[in-house]
Amino acid sequence: MDRQDIINAPDIGNKAEAYEAFDDIPTNPNLTRTIGDVINVRYDRRAILRGALGVSATAALFGTAATIAPTSAQATTASRYKFDELPWGNDETHHIADGYDADVLLRWGDPITAGAPEFDVMNQTAAAQLQQFGYNNDYVGFTPLNAEGTRGLLCVNHEYTNEEVMFPGLGRQDKSGFDKTTAEIVDIEMAAHGGSVVEIAKGGDGKWAVVRNSPLNRRISPLHTEMAIDGPAAGHARMQTNADPSGTRVIGTLNNCAGGMTPWGTYLMAEENFHGYFWTDTLDGDGKPDLSAQPEAANMQRYGVPGRWYAWGRFHDRFNIDLEPNEPNRFGWIVEVDPRDPTSAPIKHTALGRFRHEGAETAVAPDGRLVVYSGDDNRFDYLYKYVSTGAITQDNAANSKLLSDGTLYAARFDADGHIAWLPLVHGTGPLTAANGFDSQADVLIDTRIAADFLGATPMDRPEDVQPRGDGTAYVMLTNNSRRKPDQVDAANPRAKSNFGHIIEIKEDDGDHGATAGTWSILVKCGDPSIAEIGAQWNPETSENGWFGSPDNCTFDADGRLWISTDQGSKWGKTGKSDGLYGLETEGELRGQSRLFFRCPVGGELCGPYFTPDSETLFLAVQHPGTDGTKALKGFERASTFADPATRWPDFDPAMPPRPSVVVVTKKGGGKIAV
Ligand code: FEO
Ligand code: CA
Repeated sequence: MDRQDIINAPDIGNKAEAYEAFDDIPTNPNLTRTIGDVINVRYDRRAILRGALGVSATAALFGTAATIAPTSAQATTASRYKFDELPWGNDETHHIADGYDADVLLRWGDPITAGAPEFDVMNQTAAAQLQQFGYNNDYVGFTPLNAEGTRGLLCVNHEYTNEEVMFPGLGRQDKSGFDKTTAEIVDIEMAAHGGSVVEIAKGGDGKWAVVRNSPLNRRISPLHTEMAIDGPAAGHARMQTNADPSGTRVIGTLNNCAGGMTPWGTYLMAEENFHGYFWTDTLDGDGKPDLSAQPEAANMQRYGVPGRWYAWGRFHDRFNIDLEPNEPNRFGWIVEVDPRDPTSAPIKHTALGRFRHEGAETAVAPDGRLVVYSGDDNRFDYLYKYVSTGAITQDNAANSKLLSDGTLYAARFDADGHIAWLPLVHGTGPLTAANGFDSQADVLIDTRIAADFLGATPMDRPEDVQPRGDGTAYVMLTNNSRRKPDQVDAANPRAKSNFGHIIEIKEDDGDHGATAGTWSILVKCGDPSIAEIGAQWNPETSENGWFGSPDNCTFDADGRLWISTDQGSKWGKTGKSDGLYGLETEGELRGQSRLFFRCPVGGELCGPYFTPDSETLFLAVQHPGTDGTKALKGFERASTFADPATRWPDFDPAMPPRPSVVVVTKKGGGKIAV
């Protein structure tokens, strides 16, 4: 199907669904290369004939042994998650397990900065939106401001906007050629993207509230926030634009999906589907972007630029590749924000590579090096990790430099259960001028292409990755309906995977900085009662507990894993709303999942994040009322501003659904699920 067929498909209800369905078309060239091609790229052919391709590398490429089972902790027969499981379902509101409160803390449009106007959905402006909580909250981080942990800063990403339910009378703009998208609409959209830093405090009643007008409250957006670019690609000619001939300053960040908090309390915002914000008026006879005169054509094709899912480029030249071919090279990075200094310029750290970063979760290696795991969320793209050169210290200003100097690796998952981390270092292996890499800047700007040359493993959409600090990490592979039977491999074991799976990594010697380790599949998702799906759960998992499309994840203070889901428009395949699940990783119940929280219809669950004392859990309900509402019995149509499937959380007939952050606490206080 081409783009217009996807936009007009009867099961597509809104632009975001069309955008995601279009991205179903992979750009990884290694899917059509033979394994021999990959070897020839990775290792000089004469080197193979000389026998330089070692036994382990050969085994890695051709091995068929079973996967290595993880070392398990002591067996447990009782669930480590102490709560009464929630029944599955899908309706207009959210649900939490008995004994807990799930209170709405921050909604799209809530005023957060001093002097911010009250939200007026019928008369929204960009100026107001820049002082109010943004749209589609995704990542949530928290850093305490006092020793008791009763005051702190919530750091929230605002990934994207849903024009159909945000703006009265606008409707789907992808379908109409953006006919009603004015400069003011574009600026409101831009102001609603980015991030928010909001001070919150816990009252004597144990309830959290926003500290309105705190001097630390801040909005970050692609409309108004100037950022620095650092690392090996900073200043490179391919990073320079008319507005920034230095290649070191950029306005804003966008499509910030998941993220992470560093050990020194800064906030990492991952730039994910940046390709969709770039525009062109240069089209071929089929109406597709014509990149034939583009100096960045190969890069653009591999990254899906220009996506043309937002019309920002009609009003802001830098988002039009006909005018600014290098501007897309300034997005797709990890951005670091110091939430304690509202005047500080965020920093785009190019050392961590450029791709559709889902998240950026950190761990510290035994020798003090900082490690950042990050998935590239595209069908058949790769898992990466970054290891700093230096070690963490008590000097926070120095610690930020750890994100400027280090080694980026892409993962190769071998069939014998080993994982090899392949360094993306200019001048090593195939990453040379002969293959188009003149410098480390080229390797990082074209991270995907460099990883193609290294023979990294094309995965089923790597989403959030959570390291535990003990050398263990969990990788969410959300789904990949495009994988064909002859493209199945040990780490991506199902063709047409609608429901995804979760991989557990054990780095060698428990060291997150190691360049090798082992992997195993923790669960294969989907309904275990339908044999064809091929799901794999602990048999103790109830009908409420299994899920599809794992997306974000976190650990609580006791090292227990929690998973949130995003089934997109495909939730009708399970009938279940998205939610939060406790997933056992240890003992006899390893692979048992239990449902704790459920989203309102059409919403995806993001966050999740526990306070250090594990007495509070922050959840982000993204795009309530939008995804897949055509499958909701009794509603069976696409949501609009006037007629949404839910008006969560206000249930006010004058208010559309609002993406919101929810705070979960135990009734009477105490640690969650203990
Ligand atoms: Fe923004 Fe990969 O989800
Ligand atoms: Ca996500």
